[in-house]
Amino acid sequence: SQIPHDLFEAIAELKQQLNAVILAHYYQEPDLQDVADYIGDSLGLSQTAANCQADVIVFLGVHFMAETAKIFNPNKQVLLPDLNAGCSLADSCPPAQFAEFKAKHPDHLVISYINCSAAIKAMSDIICTSANAVAIVNQIPKDRPIIFAPDRNLGRYVAEQTGRDLVLWQGACIVHEIFSERKLVELKQEHPHAEIIAHPECEPNVLRHADYIGSTTGLLKYVQTSSSQAFIVVTEEGVIHQMQKMAPDKLLIPAPPDNGCACNQCPHMRLNTLEKLYLAMKHRTPEVTLDESIRLAALRPMQRMLDMSK
Ligand code: 13P
Ligand code: SF4
Repeated sequence: SQIPHDLFEAIAELKQQLNAVILAHYYQEPDLQDVADYIGDSLGLSQTAANCQADVIVFLGVHFMAETAKIFNPNKQVLLPDLNAGCSLADSCPPAQFAEFKAKHPDHLVISYINCSAAIKAMSDIICTSANAVAIVNQIPKDRPIIFAPDRNLGRYVAEQTGRDLVLWQGACIVHEIFSERKLVELKQEHPHAEIIAHPECEPNVLRHADYIGSTTGLLKYVQTSSSQAFIVVTEEGVIHQMQKMAPDKLLIPAPPDNGCACNQCPHMRLNTLEKLYLAMKHRTPEVTLDESIRLAALRPMQRMLDMSK
């Protein structure tokens, strides 16, 4: 058949042939994380893409992440195994409506969470990720009003942490907004010594139970360094793969969503598979491309983010 028996070996060979680098987000399925050269949160992935030496970047994540790699690398081919791997949060902020929203607040600085399209980035002054959002807002003079888009939950959390009054775009992530507070409290009763660690895209009624809030890399580091032996992990369950590898003796319990499932996977992230990765590398498609004027406009706030995160 067209699909080789040993996909891992075939992918390794193609990687050599193409002089490709494989970048993966922590929400990818474990097999995909295992073939990656670099696994990270959105900040780490952006920094890695910005300093990439390979000829081809194979991105295991969602569309806005692959776009981010392309923003920094106009002359490299950026492959995404499934172009339909979108993001509900990025989709919750359409460019035309965002332009109207921006026009209503002409004095405001626009800080956008990286989970948005290149078109929204192009309309923004600074990009941030969940790892640096608080630090970036803290670098803005207090008298400067700020629009924060598109995630209202991260926005609310950043407003709380910085004491700033942010004008929020009302977007949300379908994965993080469906965690069940009731089930989380029940789980904590079953495991009273477990620490609750959560991603800031979660709703406030869930975040208020968290002992630690951070980006996926932040959560991973917290599990490694905390003296606790058990953690209830309130984010996409893919991150548990690396957590368990790095802290094999610790108990990691995925928090349940409110939809009857035991764990919580991002349907967009999970569209990428090992087989689609192999086919994308073999046929050098599907590829993420960007209009050059949008790319240049989006590069400016991305570069500002990297400069402000040093
Ligand atoms: P981070 O890995 O940057 O925390 O992002 C989480 C997320 O939802 C990505 O889609
Ligand atoms: Fe988008 Fe949420 Fe999926 Fe991340 S987890 S890609 S924010 S839908």
